Amino acid sequence: MEQKAYSWRSLSNEALPKAETMSKGVTANPASPDFARFKQAIYKKTGIDLSLYKSQQMHRRLYNMVERAGLRTFDEYFALIEQEEQEFFAFLDRMTINVSELFRNPEKWEELTHSVLPELLKTRSNLKVWSAGCSYGAEPYTLLLLLSQMTKYGRHTLHATDIDKKILAKAQEGLFTEADVKNVPPKLLEEYFHTLSQPNSHLNPTLPKYQIKPGLRAKIGFRQQNLLADRFENDYDLICCRNVVIYFTDEAKERLYEQFVKSLRVGGYLLVGGTERIVGYQNLGLDNPIPFFYRRVR
Ligand SMILES: C[S@@+](CC[C@H](N)C(=O)[O-])C[C@H]1O[C@@H](n2cnc3c(N)ncnc32)[C@H](O)[C@@H]1O
Repeated sequence: MEQKAYSWRSLSNEALPKAETMSKGVTANPASPDFARFKQAIYKKTGIDLSLYKSQQMHRRLYNMVERAGLRTFDEYFALIEQEEQEFFAFLDRMTINVSELFRNPEKWEELTHSVLPELLKTRSNLKVWSAGCSYGAEPYTLLLLLSQMTKYGRHTLHATDIDKKILAKAQEGLFTEADVKNVPPKLLEEYFHTLSQPNSHLNPTLPKYQIKPGLRAKIGFRQQNLLADRFENDYDLICCRNVVIYFTDEAKERLYEQFVKSLRVGGYLLVGGTERIVGYQNLGLDNPIPFFYRRVR
């Protein structure tokens, strides 16, 4: 597929090519022809290649959507997605899974603060950092909070990308619930967040209770990007890609990690999620000085 270059903060709707009309077929297993047609049609419509995701899991999740819509086939489901934008967003929600929180896996942020960032800051005072698969922003805001604490006047470049345009719009608002902030040190909560007056937030834990202050929100460049198709920038000091690749096929993961390495400067770090490993990392020119932190060494 031809790679697309996006400009930062370009979240506007692009014209999507119309999918071909699909013929009927049956449906309840990942190898069914109508699921194959569905994957093709989604690729044409969005550039998202569902065959790069683990087939059984993706099929299970999406078949559940077919059933919930009261339909029998993926052909019918695609027609529904074409007709109703809300259904299209629901499909994206279902395939992406946006679970996150600020300071998720606190020990990794400790290691970042005490080992990785000081090492990086020794060679460059202004870092270039990327949160890849940032969901509603908890990860890039955590990075921003730490960098703001460590380098009061640093002019760092912070990029945050996700495939899901709707979740990016949410990320730009910097809104978080009580549960999202449970690992945020109280001092940082006070310094960098406004508390919202939500009288009923104790009754409804999904209501946001905190918002990152506007000056800070503007420091992150958010943009839509498909990690499996779009072009990457280079010269990053740190890339965080955590809990994103779990549903990718092994081949897709391998290719992605190769691309991440090229996007790092020598000496830069890639942080992966707590269940993830880079198989054969030495061959990619990485070492692994701290669990889940990989450093480009050549
Ligand atoms: C579980 S969240 C991870 C959020 C954060 N990194 C963390 O660890 O808390 C996974 C995110 O990956 C995004 N994602 C899934 N496939 C993607 C792709 N091909 N390109 C970019 N983002 C993708 C989803 O939209 C979702 O927001």
